[in-house]
Amino acid sequence: MAVRPGLIGGALSSRAGGWHHGEVRLAVCSSKGGVGKTSTAANLAVVLAGHGRTLAVDVDPQDSLGRAFGVVAKGRDDSLAGLLDDPSLDPRGAVRPDVVPGLDVLPSHPSLEQVGVSLAAQGGIVSSVRRALRPLLADYDHVVLDTHGDLGNLTLAAVCAADSVLTVFTSDPGSALGAARVSAFLELHRDFENTRAELIGVGCALWDKQGRAAREVLGALEGTGLPVLQTRIPLSRRVPSSTLSKRPVVLSAPSSAVAQAYSALADELLAAHSKKVPR
Ligand SMILES: Nc1ncnc2c1ncn2[C@@H]1O[C@H](COP(=O)(O)OP(=O)(O)OP(=O)(O)O)[C@@H](O)[C@H]1O
Ligand SMILES: [Mg+2]
Repeated sequence: MAVRPGLIGGALSSRAGGWHHGEVRLAVCSSKGGVGKTSTAANLAVVLAGHGRTLAVDVDPQDSLGRAFGVVAKGRDDSLAGLLDDPSLDPRGAVRPDVVPGLDVLPSHPSLEQVGVSLAAQGGIVSSVRRALRPLLADYDHVVLDTHGDLGNLTLAAVCAADSVLTVFTSDPGSALGAARVSAFLELHRDFENTRAELIGVGCALWDKQGRAAREVLGALEGTGLPVLQTRIPLSRRVPSSTLSKRPVVLSAPSSAVAQAYSALADELLAAHSKKVPR
């Protein structure tokens, strides 16, 4: 297991204390776009890679998760889209190894959208990502799946490949509603599609500590019984600039407050995961 001293703040100290949270297969979902999913998924994946071999999977046709690491598929066949469309492809051919030490990335491609539509029409969309990842899973301790900002078929396919779900909110008042929608979506498909993923966290990915709106959203969420996380990711210009530099902020500015917050979020999620999803 690769551990990079100084990178992980709180997570490292937990580990030094003999941390055994087990494997996590985490889908990051939301019912709307632009709420900080990809930034959260990319940073969590790096932090988790400090605890065990990790695969980051981009289940969004916008292919932003790969781009957060400078990884772009050349075509459909070296991306998740190819693996979903053609089960005979070797999944290893699409995985970019050691994008960061301990972290491999399975990128998306814009064709994923059409592949998803075809699979939905012919059947097999729900289990498609789970099936594509199955031959790879033995190689990883952790899997992080990023999704499109909706509760559509590809998001359902990502959920079906996960055991845990994180949803994120912002200071937008619609955000609290979004978290409740994700929770209802998971409940529905646990019945309809036999998915097993649990909502293990509702986290603020864009926390404006000066803003009243964010506190109101938080207040609204706290009354819902949803698993609201203590850790909030502060607003920071470092996050958009880290996308430009293709190095998530936990790598490019590890001692910044925002990087420390992503590390603390990983700690909190792993603790929640081990309570909710015992192995
Ligand atoms: N903590 C933060 N502080 C400041 N900007 C942030 C923060 N987190 C994310 N952003 C910025 O907000 C925008 C949306 O973030 P991101 O792409 O992570 O959201 P998303 O939910 O994945 O969006 P989409 O639904 O389009 O995939 C990006 O420009 C990103 O750089
Ligand atoms: Mg995104």
